[in-house]
Amino acid sequence: MTDSSLPPGAQPAPPLSQKTLKEGGTVEPVREILWGSSAGVRKYETSEEVPPDMRKLVVKLMVVQADTEFGSIQQHRPWLDHAPTLEDRWIEARIIADEARHGLQACRILRDFGEEGQKFTDELLTKKEGEHKLEAFNIPFDRWSDVGAFTCFVDRVGVYQLRAFQECSYGPLARAMPLMLSEEQLHLNFGFSVLKRIAKDEGKYYGDRAEAQRAVNKWFPRALDMFGHSNSETSRRAIELGLKRWTNEEARERYLKEVAPLMESIGLELPDPLANRHIL
Ligand SMILES: [Fe+2]
Ligand SMILES: [Fe+2]
Repeated sequence: MTDSSLPPGAQPAPPLSQKTLKEGGTVEPVREILWGSSAGVRKYETSEEVPPDMRKLVVKLMVVQADTEFGSIQQHRPWLDHAPTLEDRWIEARIIADEARHGLQACRILRDFGEEGQKFTDELLTKKEGEHKLEAFNIPFDRWSDVGAFTCFVDRVGVYQLRAFQECSYGPLARAMPLMLSEEQLHLNFGFSVLKRIAKDEGKYYGDRAEAQRAVNKWFPRALDMFGHSNSETSRRAIELGLKRWTNEEARERYLKEVAPLMESIGLELPDPLANRHIL
């Protein structure tokens, strides 16, 4: 494409060599803590540097993160052989591989915290279906529409949790985010497309609009619960420590603004955000 063919105002892409040959890697790493009470000082790069109360919180957050990844593998697994189309089965296989990698990534961070982290990693591997920390990961996918609504709503909450860690004060966690986020994007786009196909291709793909709506009603409240309690002291502390960018309620508000127009675009209704909720 020549420059004259670019839309008005668009900047031409820099030559590849400028993009990839920067000193120290392809993307300049951010070395400083960007928010919270230690903003401006160097990020913590090893577990030994992390202050004791922050240590506890990183471990707790990584245990929950890894637990959701392993839980969702158990939920998806039966659909490897039962998804309606071959393409759907292939994407199920990709999602399972991605979630296994995310679980491994979270456990690697846990292992960096020595014996304590290793103990949690060992426990995580013994968890059976129904034993996970968050309710959304203990509900089986009885129907294919569950897979669509789960990946559209629950994985999207996962994306908000990961985005909250972007450029956080613990360097190894911050650097894990870009790849995890790009993989999660596939999951939620897939979930939306499954719901859309169910709702629009009535009967020709899998079920009908009522089937899609039933799945939305089932998973939306569990997804909203995943953000945790509003006014949570832990979420405020995580911001102070530079670990998370948003409080639980801020993240939930952003999420609600994103999902409302999505559902409207495919003619499905979002239930009242306060209805059927277990964690407020
Ligand atoms: Fe994941
Ligand atoms: Fe995912």
